[in-house]
Formats: sequence, structure tokens, C-alpha cells
Amino acid sequence: MQTYAMLIDGSWVQSAKTFDVKNPATDAVIAKVPDASAADVDRAVQAARRAFDGGWRDVTAQERGRILLRLAEKMRAELPRLAQIETENSGKPIVESEYDLTDVATCFEYYGGLATKLHGEVLNVPDNAVSMALREPLGVAGQIIPWNYPLLMAAWKLAPAICAGCSMVIKPAEQTPLTLLEFARFFEECGLPKGVVNVVTGFGETGAAIVAHGDVDKIAFTGSMEVGKIIMRSAADTLKKVSLELGGKSPNIFFADADFEAAVDGALFGVFVNQGEVCSAGSRVLIERPIYKKMLDAMVAKAKTIKLGPGMDRATKMGPVVSKEQMERVMRYQEIGKKEAKVAVGGGRAAVSGFEKGYFVQPTIFYDVSNAATIAREEIFGPVMSVIPFDDEAEALKIANDTPYGLAAAVWSRDIFKCFRMVKRLQAGIVWVNHMQPTYVEAPWGGYKMSGIGRELGPWGAEEYQQVKQVHINLNEAPIGWY
Ligand code: NAI
Ligand code: MG
Repeated sequence: MQTYAMLIDGSWVQSAKTFDVKNPATDAVIAKVPDASAADVDRAVQAARRAFDGGWRDVTAQERGRILLRLAEKMRAELPRLAQIETENSGKPIVESEYDLTDVATCFEYYGGLATKLHGEVLNVPDNAVSMALREPLGVAGQIIPWNYPLLMAAWKLAPAICAGCSMVIKPAEQTPLTLLEFARFFEECGLPKGVVNVVTGFGETGAAIVAHGDVDKIAFTGSMEVGKIIMRSAADTLKKVSLELGGKSPNIFFADADFEAAVDGALFGVFVNQGEVCSAGSRVLIERPIYKKMLDAMVAKAKTIKLGPGMDRATKMGPVVSKEQMERVMRYQEIGKKEAKVAVGGGRAAVSGFEKGYFVQPTIFYDVSNAATIAREEIFGPVMSVIPFDDEAEALKIANDTPYGLAAAVWSRDIFKCFRMVKRLQAGIVWVNHMQPTYVEAPWGGYKMSGIGRELGPWGAEEYQQVKQVHINLNEAPIGWY
């Protein structure tokens, strides 16, 4: 078992208290990690401020880009080792960890290239003047990361912030801090000046101390809607900028004319990949009545073949959920679902031989679910699908949009006209047509309605870490002449 330190001002430091990190497949403690206090957070924020004011803000975009590219290269070189740690810490199948960490490298590469392409504008004001909108880094960013894609969600925040020239204090989730702590060991050799990225570990209290800190200019958060609201309230005291990604209850909509095999596969993948611990999970599966029964039967047959097991086994298609707490949360929803709807498959904890203490839950499909049911309204964040029938396009749209969330939606049909009518009226920040979950660093990611504020990835992601300065240069040498 390893004891980790956290990174503040380029030094690896301990804290007064530590906490245990577990392997969800075995319930065994695999590491001890510092539990950062408000005083630790304050030191980290001060280091970030010193780094920003003391030179980082003047480092050229070209140099920032090179640092990002070096980090990408280092990520690729260390990928097998970090993927193993990601799986041991989060539970996810090793094959998925490898995908995720490849995406981490791609994210750093993308922002490495973007650094020199972020530019301001020159405006056509009606005067003999040059008017400009300059883009400047916001300053010190606080970044709070969830546990479902531990290093990838950190990359989505680190890379654009470095690209934009911010310094930062980042906190991984208490369940899954290990890969970010490992990755932080590369900062120095990749040329990142000390204090530019500080990594503090801890629970919600540590996160809250970052949010409340008066010298943090912006908070970027991914996690629950509940904590998103707390963060926004707290950020109001210091009028910080906030960007929030708060998950969803995304509709995955299947019309009768969709390719049937692709539909069955897309519905299952949409909510069972990564144990269903996906902010954009297609957890509400809407099926047009003519194919309702047939598609349900086909999904159930296939769901029964999903191989559960420890993530380190390459044959595993579904690992344990991240924590005992999350397993109990999913099981509570399974019990609620049994009262509200009919169970087609699953519905409880799963037994995996040799891993009796693991946090495994059965891939579960509820059908004849009312959109008013709790399991259709609340984010479960586990392998639980709610199947809802519909009669026509209008009803599908009404059900799809009848949710406080608005992160993602998917539509499956061979009719391009119908697809596009749906695309235009779905209230979601991301809409997939005849696909589920593809995510590209080039494309914007974020939610409508209560799924959040702001966008990650692409140029939008970097702009969240910038502020705009208007500059007016008068070219008339004469006085204004008013008085
Ligand atoms: P959470 O929202 O409590 O935790 C996410 C991050 O926020 C962690 O780093 C945590 O330490 C931090 N945090 C917690 N309380 C905080 C506070 N008051 N101030 C600042 N930071 C704070 O999520 P949790 O409790 O682990 O999971 C509960 C549910 O949240 C899940 O079942 C799922 O529905 C949702 N969730 C959504 C995610 C998404 O990707 N949108 C990711 C993780 C959870
Ligand atoms: Mg929580």
C-alpha cells in the first residue's frame, strides 16, 4: 500500500490527516492520501496566485502549448501503468481505462495545438481609432473533479486552463485521487513552473474551502446537481465565475424505423458502459410502440450476457461501481424501481465469485416506466435503465424534454427529416443521431437547463478560463474638444 503526498507549490507535502482509498472490486485499502484542510487549500491558492503573478501570465502561448504537448507525450508513455491504477481505483474495465487515458493524451494534444490559436478581435468602431477585444487569462482557477472518469475529467479542466494561461488548484474526488496524483509527478519534467498546478486531495470540505477562497477567480465543477447548487451559492459571496457540469437523465429515443441491431446495441451501451456512471448516460430509453416489446426482449437477452467482473480482467464488460456508498445508492433506486415499474432483468446486487466484497450491481432494466417515476426523474449513476413507451414524435419529444436536466439526448431513426425535427426541439446541450456517447475534444460539452452552466472542450473550454478586455486606441491627436 502506498502513501501519497499532494502537490503544493511544486513540493510534495503531507497534511495533518489522511484518508483511505479503496479498490472497489475487493473493498481493500490500496492507498493513503492527505486530507487537505482549509489551511492547506489556502497555501495552494497562494502558490497558484504567486505563480500567476510571478511570471506564468507572461509565459508565451507557444511555450504553454509545448508544455501541454509534452504532457500528452508523457501520458502516452505511461499509459499502461496509469490505466491499471485507474482501474484498481475506480473499478472500471481496464479496456475502458485505456480508452479514457488515450483521451487524456488527446485532450492535452488538442489544447497544446490550440494555445497559439486563441486570439482576440479588432472591432469596426465608428471612429478614427483601433478598438480591440483582448483575451486574457482569468487568474486562479479552482477545479473540482468527480470519480467516474477520474483522470479524464481532470484533463478536461487542466488542459484548457493551462492553454488559457491560468494557474490552478485542482481537487480529485475522494474516491479516486490516485491517477491525478501520479500524473502530477510529470509536471516538473514537462516544464510546468511550480505552483501553476496545485493538487489538493480531500472530501467535500476541501472542495468547499476552494470555492469559498477569496483569491480564487473561477470554479469549474463536475458532479452532482446538489453540490452544483451549493457551489453556486457559495461562489456568490465572492462573485466568482462558475462552470458546472451536473449530469442528467438523458433520453435515448428509438423510432420504429431505426436499424434494429444498432438500436439494441446503442440502448445498452448508452447506460451500461462504465457501470452506468456516466453524466450523459441514456438512462431513459424511449421506444416507439411498434418495436417496444421486440426491442425490450432483445435488450434483456443481451443484458444477460454482460460479463461482470474485476476491471483488471480483460474479459470484463462491467466492473464494480466506485464505492460502497454508490452501490447502496444504486440498490436503493433498484428497490424504488420495483415499486414503480416492472423489472425485466437485474434489480439487485451482483455476486462475482472470488470478489464477494466487491461493489457489483446487476445491469438492470425496468420497463413500463412512467416518466413521472422517481427512476425516470433522478440521476441514478449506475447500470439502471428505465424503458418508456411512446406513440409518436410529439409524445417522444414531450417525454424527452419533461425533465429538469438537459445534458444529452439521442435519436435513432432512418428518417433524416424526423431526426432533424427532433434535433431542433430537444432541450439538451449534446444531441446524438444514430449513436450514443461519442465524445470529441473538438466539440462542445455541457448542459441545457439544470445540467449546468458553461461548456467544456474545444475553444469553448478554453474561453471559460479567459476574460475579455476592451481596448480603445485613439488615433486623433487633437483634444476631445468637449469643454
Ligand atoms: P459529489 O457531487 O458530492 O462529488 C463530486 C466532487 O465534488 C467530489 O470531488 C467531491 O469531493 C466534491 N464536493 C462534494 N461536496 C462539495 C462541496 N460542498 N463543495 C465543493 N466540492 C464538493 O458527488 P457524489 O456524492 O460522489 O455522487 C452522488 C451523485 O452525484 C452520483 O450518484 C451522481 O448522480 C452524481 N454525480 C454526477 C457526476 C457527473 O459527471 N455529472 C459525477 C459524480 C457524481
Ligand atoms: Mg456528495
